[in-house]
Amino acid sequence: MTDFKIAPSILSANFACLGEEVDRVIASGADIVHFDVMDNHYVPNLTIGPMVCKALRQHGVTAPIDVHLMVKPVDRMIAEFIEAGATYITFHPEASEHIDRSLQMIKDGGCQAGLVFNPATPLHLMDHVMDKLDMVLLMSVNPGFGGQAFIPHTLEKLKQARAKLDASGFDIRLEVDGGIKTSNIAQVAQAGADTFVAGSAIFNAFNTGDPNGYDSVIAEM
Ligand code: DX5
Ligand code: ZN
Repeated sequence: MTDFKIAPSILSANFACLGEEVDRVIASGADIVHFDVMDNHYVPNLTIGPMVCKALRQHGVTAPIDVHLMVKPVDRMIAEFIEAGATYITFHPEASEHIDRSLQMIKDGGCQAGLVFNPATPLHLMDHVMDKLDMVLLMSVNPGFGGQAFIPHTLEKLKQARAKLDASGFDIRLEVDGGIKTSNIAQVAQAGADTFVAGSAIFNAFNTGDPNGYDSVIAEM
């Protein structure tokens, strides 16, 4: 039986009360806090950094924090997020000059390491570092913004990634990120994902005044 996990992306949360937003999604049954770091260089958007991760820990968040680095270069941010209390740190292989070294930095810092694949980034970039991976994150949108539509051809890629991870014999989570809703999550799970990032689907349910709030969205997922 697969151990499915829901990871709300706080990119769609209300930043004016982020601690409370995170407390609420965790109390509603979410497993992991997905933390999107954008640098206005690797992606055309600017979000939050290690100080905010540290502040969430100081606020009392004990859930795993899954730091998705959309930054270039990556290594300095790895060091800072280790210090700030990250649980998982994932980065895009094309943003690192030395993929093996960046992964090893994450492991040496006591965090779980992962690589992120954009819809058009080839999966073979993981081939020589699978022993260092705790997670593979497959983007089902092009990174940079919340609220984009799921790209259908990424379902086939998810299946290929699932086969690769199974064949490796390593225990590696397969996370999917972008456009995940209650309407497509079953199909995405069937293609092989076990960890589901959802930003707008979860937080908009609450912040637009949906009377059911996001606890019902998380429960349905
Ligand atoms: C996009 C980010 C995602 C984003 C997902 O670059 O990596 O984590 O917040 O948002 P939704 O679920 O709204 O597509
Ligand atoms: Zn993300």
